[in-house]
Amino acid sequence: MREYKIESTLHIYEMSELCAADRELVEAAKQATRGSYSPYSKFCVGAAVRLQNGVVFTGANQENAAFPSGLCAERTALFAANAQYPDQPVLALAVAARKGRRYLVQPIPPCGACRQVISGVEDRFATPIRILLYGSGGVLVSEGISPLLPLRFADGDMR
Ligand code: THU
Repeated sequence: MREYKIESTLHIYEMSELCAADRELVEAAKQATRGSYSPYSKFCVGAAVRLQNGVVFTGANQENAAFPSGLCAERTALFAANAQYPDQPVLALAVAARKGRRYLVQPIPPCGACRQVISGVEDRFATPIRILLYGSGGVLVSEGISPLLPLRFADGDMR
């Protein structure tokens, strides 16, 4: 038996430590929580993506009485961006969540399905996506999906 060790390093930033573009993206994700339709979980999630051409797309979680039919904020934003700008790499993705009026202190990590989709978008454009997970206590930053999804299934695994 051999050990297969996986280590991930992420960084926590104060909002004031982020560059202006990242700060704006986080603010856009916070604003996007207002578009959440979450009558079941009452958990409002917003996401914002920045494309290479500078355009920002936002999304929010959309729920449905048939639970699996809903969609997370991250995929709502990513799919909208990819559908309207199919040639534009996604450079960054910010996520924010609140319960009622209060943003969570600890950032929420994207669910497994969203991580897989982020991974697919990175592969599609051969460009890592800077992921900014907002919490009122700090912004957790992952340089690409790899630290959040180190052993992932991708296109190349089928060849
Ligand atoms: N949700 C997101 O939108 N993004 C995440 O990263 C985690 C969870 C949504 C899905 C559902 O509407 C609600 O939060 C509770 O799971």
